Amino acid sequence: MIDQRVKVIDHPLAKVILTQLRDKNTKQIGFRKGLVKLGRLIGYELIKTMELEEIEVETPLLVKAKGYRIPDLNHIIIINVLRAATPLVEGLLKALPDAKQGIVAIKRIEEKPGIENITVQKFYVKIPSISNEDIVIVADPMLATGSTISAVIAEVLNVGKPKRLIVVSVIATEYGIRKILNNYPSTEIITVAIDPELNDHGYIIPGLGDAGDRAFG
Ligand code: URA
Repeated sequence: MIDQRVKVIDHPLAKVILTQLRDKNTKQIGFRKGLVKLGRLIGYELIKTMELEEIEVETPLLVKAKGYRIPDLNHIIIINVLRAATPLVEGLLKALPDAKQGIVAIKRIEEKPGIENITVQKFYVKIPSISNEDIVIVADPMLATGSTISAVIAEVLNVGKPKRLIVVSVIATEYGIRKILNNYPSTEIITVAIDPELNDHGYIIPGLGDAGDRAFG
């Protein structure tokens, strides 16, 4: 763990699904389904970090029963970073069905090799209004150089300052994590794995290849 703002999901099923995603023999459908499953699982793990409020309900037998609610579930905004995040967001929505959604269409531009030379170009930004009660989740399966996600976080903070801002990824790098935490120190990061390297084109090594190409063909 880099620090307490970074959580690596330690669930056996997450490790198994990630292995399938890394495998070059996993086809488009299996890849997409794997991202959906991970999104659901990450969503459930995220819920564990939310406050559980005690309530009382009346059962059909007209007796009182102690129960719980999670108020934060009504204050979730998920930002879908097109296009690779789409299956991950589909999974997150299974765990967080009342979430509002925003979209940021953004692509990396590589003018010459070298991760310092990677820039990003935004095409479309649509983010719902954000209050200080909201939890904003920025979903992008690959947190590689951190350039894309930093640009997305800047757009989020232009709209409002949420109670929590959480980046959800499947594979991250220490380089990308450090960039985000340096640029935006109050950000939290949840990922399934932290891989050791980035190549000159900004791909994560060993990684899983181009997540968008593998999910969409
Ligand atoms: N985006 C991807 O899809 N894969 C990587 O390895 C890095 C960024």
